[in-house]
Amino acid sequence: MQIEVKNKKQDFFAVITDVDIKNISNTNFVKIKQTLETYGVVVLKNQNINDNQQIEFSRKFGDLEKALEHDKLEGIQDEITRISNVDQHNNILPVDSKKVIYDRGNRSWHSDSSYKSIPSKFSILSSREIPDQGGGTEYIDARYALETWNKKKHKPSLEDLKQQICQHSIVYSRMVNTGDIFDESYKNKMPFVKQRLIRTHPFTQRSAFYVGSHCSHIVGWDIEISRKLIKEINDWIMNSGEIIHHKWSNKEIVMWDNRRVLHRGTYFDESSARRIMHRTTVAGDMPSYKESVKL
Ligand SMILES: [Fe+2]
Repeated sequence: MQIEVKNKKQDFFAVITDVDIKNISNTNFVKIKQTLETYGVVVLKNQNINDNQQIEFSRKFGDLEKALEHDKLEGIQDEITRISNVDQHNNILPVDSKKVIYDRGNRSWHSDSSYKSIPSKFSILSSREIPDQGGGTEYIDARYALETWNKKKHKPSLEDLKQQICQHSIVYSRMVNTGDIFDESYKNKMPFVKQRLIRTHPFTQRSAFYVGSHCSHIVGWDIEISRKLIKEINDWIMNSGEIIHHKWSNKEIVMWDNRRVLHRGTYFDESSARRIMHRTTVAGDMPSYKESVKL
């Protein structure tokens, strides 16, 4: 198993070759998990897998989340979040269909499941069919952003931000990014949830900003003032570190640690190109506002 780190300064983004997740030794599994927690993103090249093999590998990391109703496809397991413009009859969906518009919301920077009361640890995304052009995924390091938050330039200080709790919602983020796409009953099922603004990673003991597009405002603050600050933090994350663009090969896996990394999908021509991605998502242990923070 070979491990190459793309950004050594930030300890960010690793690429692993010469391993097959279908027949993985315990030693190599432990190495992959450590690599993921150390570098935030891990590409596993050449993984020709089906859903059952993806689920079996993903369960080694912990319990899996069930897909939301807009991420399901008839006939596939509940643990598979399907991000695709291809329907169950294998046809390209119209560009104005609900699913295509919903998936377009993933083009804003986010952390998967931050809108769930117990947010996820890891996402494990497998490419099943990819466009020739576009349809990549970009990653940015919210830990490096925190560690370079400039005391002179930025206010408030990390000490002030350390205790802040934010409200996250996918209804809010989709409203901003795609328009009003959910019906009332779905909106009622997806209320705001509380998450820490800064989280400390249990493995590395290093902290990161926990924001992205699902993060709406700070509890107890004026909404507009807190949204301005959240925007400033999101902008700083984009400007402080390296944005790594991953151009997908077919049949590979990218895994990332949602407690540290923000990601987004990039444009592709949804009217003519097919893109089929299957994600498994490793559930977290508790709401992040119950975690302790260390600076
Ligand atoms: Fe995502």
